[in-house]
Amino acid sequence: MSCLSRTSTVLIAALLVGAGCTTGEDRRRAPDPHSFSRPDQVAVRHLELDLTVDFEAHRLRGRATLHLDNRAAVRELTLDSRDLDIKRVLLGSEERETSFRLGDEVEFLGRPLVVRIEPDTRVVHIDYETDPRAIALQWLEPQQTAGGRQPFLLTQSESVFARTWIPCQDSPSVRITYDATIRVPPGLLAVMSAGNPTEPSPDGVYTFSMEQSIPVYLLALAVGELEFRKLGPRNGVYAEPSVVEQAAWEFAEIEQMTAVAEELFGRYRWGRFDLIVLPPGFPFGGMENPRLSFITPTLLAGDRSLVATVAHELAHSWSGNLVTHATWGDIWLNEGLTVYLEKRIMEALYGRDYTEMLAVLDQQVLLETLEELGPESPDSHLQLELVDRDPDESFGDVAYEKGYLFLRMLEETLGRERWDQFLPGYFDEFEFSSMSSERFLAYLREWLAETDPDPGSLISRLQLDDWVYGPGLPANRPAIHSAALDRVDAQRQSWIDGQPAAELDTTGWTAHHRLRFIRGLPDSLPSRRLAELDDVFGWTESSNAEILHAWLLQTLEHDYEPAGPALERFLVQVGRNKFLEPLYSRLAETPEGLERARAIYSRARPGYHSVVTHGLDEMLGVTAPR
Ligand code: BES
Ligand code: ZN
Repeated sequence: MSCLSRTSTVLIAALLVGAGCTTGEDRRRAPDPHSFSRPDQVAVRHLELDLTVDFEAHRLRGRATLHLDNRAAVRELTLDSRDLDIKRVLLGSEERETSFRLGDEVEFLGRPLVVRIEPDTRVVHIDYETDPRAIALQWLEPQQTAGGRQPFLLTQSESVFARTWIPCQDSPSVRITYDATIRVPPGLLAVMSAGNPTEPSPDGVYTFSMEQSIPVYLLALAVGELEFRKLGPRNGVYAEPSVVEQAAWEFAEIEQMTAVAEELFGRYRWGRFDLIVLPPGFPFGGMENPRLSFITPTLLAGDRSLVATVAHELAHSWSGNLVTHATWGDIWLNEGLTVYLEKRIMEALYGRDYTEMLAVLDQQVLLETLEELGPESPDSHLQLELVDRDPDESFGDVAYEKGYLFLRMLEETLGRERWDQFLPGYFDEFEFSSMSSERFLAYLREWLAETDPDPGSLISRLQLDDWVYGPGLPANRPAIHSAALDRVDAQRQSWIDGQPAAELDTTGWTAHHRLRFIRGLPDSLPSRRLAELDDVFGWTESSNAEILHAWLLQTLEHDYEPAGPALERFLVQVGRNKFLEPLYSRLAETPEGLERARAIYSRARPGYHSVVTHGLDEMLGVTAPR
C-alpha cells in the first residue's frame, strides 16, 4: 500500500468512527461499553460549569464548557447524556453556533449527544437544563431535612449518572479538571468535590476549582442549610446546623485516620479531606467524592462504632480516586482494594482483634452471596462481564469482599513487611490514571519477579488468574477468624439452651458483638423469645442503625409484632439502599407482607433517591409516578 493510500484509509476510518459508539456492536468493541464517547479520538480535559439551581422547578440550568484534546482531528464529538434538554451548542471563544443531534435512547446509558466540531476545535459550550427526574439529582423538601426549614439538593454520579446532570464523557477512564460557578438561593451553602467555602455567600453565588484530574463519576454537588466544623488542619465536617455538633464528635478521629492512611499508602494528594453528613435520604453509607466524602447520617451512632465507612471513603483517595478502574467490569480494583485499605486503617487505629471481627462479619455476607450465585457463576469472578448490563450490577459483595480477600491473600503469602512495599509504589506509579485487571496483574507479576528469588513458583502459588478470572474462592483463600465472635456465638447458644438473656455475659460488647448475636438467631425461635431479648437489650429502640436494621430483619423473620412501628419509622426515615433492600425484600415474601411493604413504600418513596426507587419499584411491582 502506498503511503498516500494508507494515510487516506486511516483518515476515512477516523471519520467513520468519529461518530462515537452509537451502535451496540461499536460498544462491544469500545474501550468502555458504558460510554458512547471515544476519548481515544477526542478527549475532554477540562470542564467549566455555570449552573443555576432552581429548587421550584427541580432543574439545574446553565452552561457546560468543555475543553478538548482533539488528537485524531475528528469532526464529531460524541458525549454521554441522559434526560438532558440541550438548548444550543457553540464553538470556541467566538461562540459560533454548531449543529448537534441526540441518538436513540439505550437502556442504562441514555443517548449519545453528537456535536459537529472542527479538527481544530478546542472549546465547546453547551447550554442545557436537567430534567426533574435526572437520576443523579436528589431534591429534598424542607421536611425531609433535619432542620425542616430549607430544601436540599444532593448529587450521586457513580456509576453512570454524571450524564444526567452534565453532558460529558462518562467513562471512568477519562479524567478532567474542573471549575464551577453555582448559583443558589441566598442563605444556602453549596459544596462540591473541589475546594469549598465554609460560610454562605450573601448573594448565593459560589465558585469552585478542582485542579487534580478526576473521572466524572466523582463530580458532586450538595446545596442546603449547612454549617462547617473544623476537625484538624486539613479536615472538617459539613452538616445541617442541628446535626453538625454530633457529626463533629462522631468523626473527631478523622485527622488521625488521614495521617495513618498516609503512612500506609503514601502522600495524600487531594489537599483537604472533609465530610458532609447528608439528610437521611442519601442512598449510600458513603460516597468518596474527592476532598469531600458524602456520608449518611445513619453513621451517627453516638459511640463512634460505625466510623469504618469513613475509613473506607478516605481509602478511596488512593484506590479509586487516584488510580481508577478502567471500566465498570474492573470495579474490584476500586472497591476491593478500598476494603483492604479500609481494614488496614482500622487495624492501625483500633487494633487487630477489632478489625478481624469486622472482617469476619463482612466475610459472612460474601459467603452467603457466593452460595446464592452458585459455584460456577461468572458473576463471582473479580473481573466482570457487563456489556449490555447495568454497570451498577458490578457493586456486589464479590467486588468488595472477594477483592478484599484477594489482597489479604497477597499480604499473607508474601508477608506484611514485603507486601507493604507494593501499594505505595503502585499508587505512585499509576497516580491519576486508570487501571484494568490485566494491567494490574501484569504490574504485580513484574514487581514479584523483581523482588523474589524464585518468582515462578511464588506466582503459581498465588493463583492470580483463578482469583481474577475464575469463580468463587480459590483454594489459597485466607482463613479469617475472630475469637471474640466465637465467644458471642457461645453466649447465643447458651441463651438458646435456656439461660436468661439478663444473665448473659455481654461485658465489653461493642455494636459489632451485638450484630453478630442478632444475625445468628435461629429461624425456629418463637416470638416471645425475641420479646425477652428486647426487654433486656432494647434493640427495637436502638439508635445504632446497623443494630436496628439487623434486629428489624429478625423481627420480620419471627413475626415479632411490637417492632412494627419502629420498622415503619425506619423505612420512612432512612433512604440507605443497603438497609432498605433486604427489609422490603423480606416483607415482599408473603402476600400480606407485600401489601404492607407497598403501603409503607408509598409514604416513604418521595424521600428516597432515584438510584434506590428504581430497584424497589421493580421489586414491589410499583409503576413509577411520572
Ligand atoms: N463508591 C461507593 C458507593 C457506591 C456504591 C456508589 C455503588 C455507586 C454504586 C462507596 O465507596 C461505598 O462503597 N460505600 C459503602 C460503604 C462501605 C463501608 C462498604 C456503602 O455505601 O455502604
Ligand atoms: Zn467504596
